Amino acid sequence: MNSPSTEKLDIQKVATSRIGEVDFNNLTFGNTFTDHMFECDYKNGVWQKPTIKPYGPLTISPAAKVFHYGQAVFEGMKAFKDDDNRVWLFRPEENFKRINKSSVRMAIPEFPKDIFFEALTTIVKMDKDWIQPGLGNSLYIRPFVIATQVGVSASPSSEYKFMILMSPAQAYYTGDVRVEIAEHYSRSANGGVGAAKAAGNYGAQFFPTNLAREKGFQQVIWTDANEHKLLEEAGTMNVFFRVNNTLLTAPVSDRILDGVTRKSVLALAERDNLTIEVRPVLVSEIVEAARNGSLKEIFGAGTAAVISPVSAFSYKGTVYELEKQEDGFAKRFKKELMDIQYNRSDDPFGWRFEV
Ligand code: COI
Repeated sequence: MNSPSTEKLDIQKVATSRIGEVDFNNLTFGNTFTDHMFECDYKNGVWQKPTIKPYGPLTISPAAKVFHYGQAVFEGMKAFKDDDNRVWLFRPEENFKRINKSSVRMAIPEFPKDIFFEALTTIVKMDKDWIQPGLGNSLYIRPFVIATQVGVSASPSSEYKFMILMSPAQAYYTGDVRVEIAEHYSRSANGGVGAAKAAGNYGAQFFPTNLAREKGFQQVIWTDANEHKLLEEAGTMNVFFRVNNTLLTAPVSDRILDGVTRKSVLALAERDNLTIEVRPVLVSEIVEAARNGSLKEIFGAGTAAVISPVSAFSYKGTVYELEKQEDGFAKRFKKELMDIQYNRSDDPFGWRFEV
């Protein structure tokens, strides 16, 4: 892995913070950004001097490869503030590993771990006043990499920009989520980029998700591209099913993102001695379970979505409503997860990382 030519992080602070202009009680997810951003360029085969500077626009050539071939990957992570104003990240090492895994798949050079952690901890400390205390408030952190070489030849860029933006956040989904099971469109295929957090994976979902929205569904549960028989993930989150008292989810593969929240839910379920089945989940078995009453819950798990209960799903034009579970798995995992994230419980897994 190439290290930056100079190890020193250059820091340029804002003269005046914008924090006073923000209504923290009425945030729209991902629309408000903190005072600073991190930027590090790659050229001549080396990551250059990393910089934290005031958040603001970039000047990039319209011929930069990212605009033409979508060579871009990103991550989603969160920082939380506990009742003593201490600031915590959740499993940041996982996001670091995953952005490099995504980069490798998209022919982007890996980013050095020491610079990633120095940048992350420094910028979070600098903008920590943007993290509101209280359950449900967080700072959503968006590391990303884009191809910046000028030129429209269809080949990997020789220049990149690694950045970190941060956005104060509340809930991603405000209510329960209604989903449609995909019958025609696909998110990913064997040997594709489904396991990478590649920007195009998300853009490609917008059109079919809009069609689902027009019918009253916020999300699509993607199925395998070959036969549309297996339930895979929901684009903004991995999906779990509770059939009677068994927790079911699909195994990660090159079609499914290896979600940090997903693997945390599985670890919590194992710790709690629940019956877990990580195996291909058939659409037909979930439809049958909905019909015979053994399907108790469906929920999504993701950094932005946290744990989001699904209240209904649609398949081949039939809508299956799920009964609201006051003491279901979704509620339990959300509490167990957030208690660890907000330093309200022990952390036997070592997931918290103090900034
Ligand atoms: C995340 O949960 O961090 C994601 O990347 C999903 C995104 C679409 C908000």
